[in-house]
Amino acid sequence: MLKGKRIILGISGGIAAYKSLILIRLFIKAGAQLRVVTTENALWFVTRVSLESLSQNKIYDKVFGPENDYTTEHISLTDWGDCFIVAPATANIIGKLANGIADDALSTSLIAFNKKIFMAPAMNVKMFDHFSVQRNIQWLKDNNIQIIEPNEGYLACGYEAKGRMEEPESIFNAIENYFSSENKVLAEKKILITAGPTHEAIDPVRYIGNQSSGKMGFAIAAELAKRGAEVILIAGPVQQQTPQGHIKRIDVTSALEMYNAAMDVFPTADAAILNAAVADFRPETASNRKIKKSDNNLQLSLVKNPDILATLGNMKKKNQILVGFALETDNELENARVKLSQKNLDFIVLNSLNDRGAGFGGDSNKITILDNNNAVLKFELKSKTEVAADITDKLVACFSND
Ligand code: PMT
Repeated sequence: MLKGKRIILGISGGIAAYKSLILIRLFIKAGAQLRVVTTENALWFVTRVSLESLSQNKIYDKVFGPENDYTTEHISLTDWGDCFIVAPATANIIGKLANGIADDALSTSLIAFNKKIFMAPAMNVKMFDHFSVQRNIQWLKDNNIQIIEPNEGYLACGYEAKGRMEEPESIFNAIENYFSSENKVLAEKKILITAGPTHEAIDPVRYIGNQSSGKMGFAIAAELAKRGAEVILIAGPVQQQTPQGHIKRIDVTSALEMYNAAMDVFPTADAAILNAAVADFRPETASNRKIKKSDNNLQLSLVKNPDILATLGNMKKKNQILVGFALETDNELENARVKLSQKNLDFIVLNSLNDRGAGFGGDSNKITILDNNNAVLKFELKSKTEVAADITDKLVACFSND
């Protein structure tokens, strides 16, 4: 369930920090990717060496310093993470988040994080019961921060009372449950996807087309169906098998056919992901007889095809999510940004033909996701199946933020 999930673990300065080492092991064993952010005080309780060895990554503990690659790590880190868990969460870090204070690596990262946050408080019972801590916890709960309540039991200060951080296994289960319910987000969703090329007939044997194989779009359809969505897959002429699951496939040939099918489906869809490489132009007239070879040059008059994505962008209702692709060869980010805004998209997936192994035909792709909140997420070269999972995660996050 957590395989490939990107988890940020925040550790603040309390004796329960030793339990976060066990939590790190559980996450790594489950195949999650982990980054650790600590307060300065946390490093009195657990060492940098233990945290870095177990998490297999450098920790982030100072906003400024020569060891930082750059001083906006709290932004790149928080763009990267799928969820943030602070364990243990002291009264201090709870108070900082509840009151918008950002004065160290952990508090700045928390304030920059706009996805799911969990906090597992740990402190002496008198501190936990204090009205200011209770008020801050209530405020965080009201703002969709999930508090993993502490247990009653032996506390480091010698008290037997509430304040012990929940055990690592239970914290791990809470995160796992979150991601499994996140999968349910798609269960009642109808999602339209276009895939493959279009062929624009010149005559009964010739056409204008492109090299799209349909692999990327079919991989997305497979991932959406795997997560329980009802998928309507509008496919251009491709040699792909329809993936398993709740997928209705509509085969089309030309851009006009794809346009008509998309117009039929979109009004009742919750989201649409337009991955097809649609021909921008078609021959003004297609000859119904094979054009004979001659010694003269052949002139073709081309007319513009409708832009399916832009049309859906104009029709889009408030509760619908629209995702486009951008296949670029130069000024990639700039061109993708223009498409994102001009076509009224929630996010756009950029793939560049300048990246080896990306784009048409092959089994891999390298993407960058740009969204309408100006976030830019860059991914490594991955298999199209893994890329489809990254795109689906982003779609789920859009539904969850609605
Ligand atoms: O099929 P594969 O071999 O696996 O390759 C996948 C892919 C490289 C084709 C795919 O990942 C991809 O990039 N698809 C979009 C290709 C494209 O047409 O890009 P574009 O930048 O020209 O178009 C921008 C967006 O507008 C796309 O979402 C496209 O589907 C859409 N569009 C374009 C023209 C048009 N007339 N109607 C559209 O809806």
